[in-house]
Amino acid sequence: MTEPLTEPLTEPVTEPVTVDLLDPDLLRDPFAGFSRLRELSPMVQVTYGSAGTPLWLVTRYEDVRKVLGDRRFVNSPANVPGLGLEDVRAEAFRGMGIEDEYAAYLLRTVLDADGDDHLRLRRLVARTFTARRVQELQPRVRNITAGLLDRLPVRDGVVDLVEDFAYPLPITVICELVGIPADDRGRWREWGRALMRQDDPGGIGAAVAGIVHCVEDLIGRRRVEPADDLITALIRVHDEDGSVLSGFELVTLVLAIVLAGHQTTAHLIGNGVLALLDHPDQLALLRSDPSGRMAGAVHELMRWCGPVQATRFRYATEDVEIGGKILRKGSPVMASLVSANFDPRQFEDPHRFDITRQPDGRRESHVGFGHGLHYCLGAALARQEAEVAFTALLARFPEMSLAVPRDRLSRTSVPGTWQLASLPVRLG
Ligand code: HEM
Repeated sequence: MTEPLTEPLTEPVTEPVTVDLLDPDLLRDPFAGFSRLRELSPMVQVTYGSAGTPLWLVTRYEDVRKVLGDRRFVNSPANVPGLGLEDVRAEAFRGMGIEDEYAAYLLRTVLDADGDDHLRLRRLVARTFTARRVQELQPRVRNITAGLLDRLPVRDGVVDLVEDFAYPLPITVICELVGIPADDRGRWREWGRALMRQDDPGGIGAAVAGIVHCVEDLIGRRRVEPADDLITALIRVHDEDGSVLSGFELVTLVLAIVLAGHQTTAHLIGNGVLALLDHPDQLALLRSDPSGRMAGAVHELMRWCGPVQATRFRYATEDVEIGGKILRKGSPVMASLVSANFDPRQFEDPHRFDITRQPDGRRESHVGFGHGLHYCLGAALARQEAEVAFTALLARFPEMSLAVPRDRLSRTSVPGTWQLASLPVRLG
């Protein structure tokens, strides 16, 4: 087996820069941490927990797009020819005591598929998430938003926007779209949270088991009582031709869409409200013309505080040059989206929050939704939900302000994500 190594191609030989992704300073301020790393090296070696394999992280905008857009990288290590590699996460799951049967549901989703398999799954989902379908959903997203804002549980004049608004909105939307009954939504939210928690392996195993049983149960029910939802549509595809969509894939698709579709969007809304409150001049500009400036504002918010800070691992199928260094065949590498989104090589004055960077928000230059073959399938839906959410909040609560000192806000320390634990505000 080739030893995965990185040797400088054009630079003098130096020790690779190594960083621990669980480093408390990096988790507290990834923007400063990654800015430093990006200038030190285009590719840094990362340690993550006790994983023994050398892992790499790409820090610069151009290189991030290369790793995500170049077909010499695959998402499944099994597709690296001749090495018989195992997924680095498999080792971690075993260490956590998660049974292989359940780990498979986390290791073989659409994000883990390559080549024709990936195209097949993506085409199936893309049929449901067409621009038209997302557009048609808009009135419903507005209704759900209005309903949530009507019923905000205000305690002593204060509301937690993360708990009571940013979370319920996307989970309601995605569950309606997929066909998850209202009664089950609370459980999905808890499962989603459990999967993010690194310190509770038992919780992860239980969450996967819960999700799998819930989806299987729902599939059984929809077979008897079809509905106008994604699950019913996918069941039809599976029943017509199991080679187009297997039973296992059906479950993993639903799992991936519901999980990817609510937590991320919730945190974009939470992070986004805070970023706007942090920048009163930009908030005033947005208020002066919400419909004209909203798309550009969401675009800048995705760059500034997008909730996904790093992609999952890719594996090089051959030696590939990255920023003047060689990444050896088989090496697991992830792309730092937060680092790329603040790269001064791409963004002028990147630490300036400016909602007019791309006024119509059409040409997306940030990489907050990823890039290339695995570019986020729900990006249009997420953008739409965020636009509806911010528009409604600005219109209803022109005096909204933070209810606690800024430095008392806490983040949930999950590497690779940027999320507020809560956002207490006064509605004014
Ligand atoms: C993929 C971010 C919302 C479904 C991705 C990727 C990123 C991302 C960065 C690529 C990961 C990689 O290449 O390793 C986000 C953010 C969101 C969001 C920041 C909200 C602000 C959604 C929504 C859905 C969704 C609403 C579903 C309705 C997916 C799926 C993939 C994906 C299925 C996998 C695509 C593939 O492997 O081809 N997302 N996402 N996402 N996202 Fe999203």
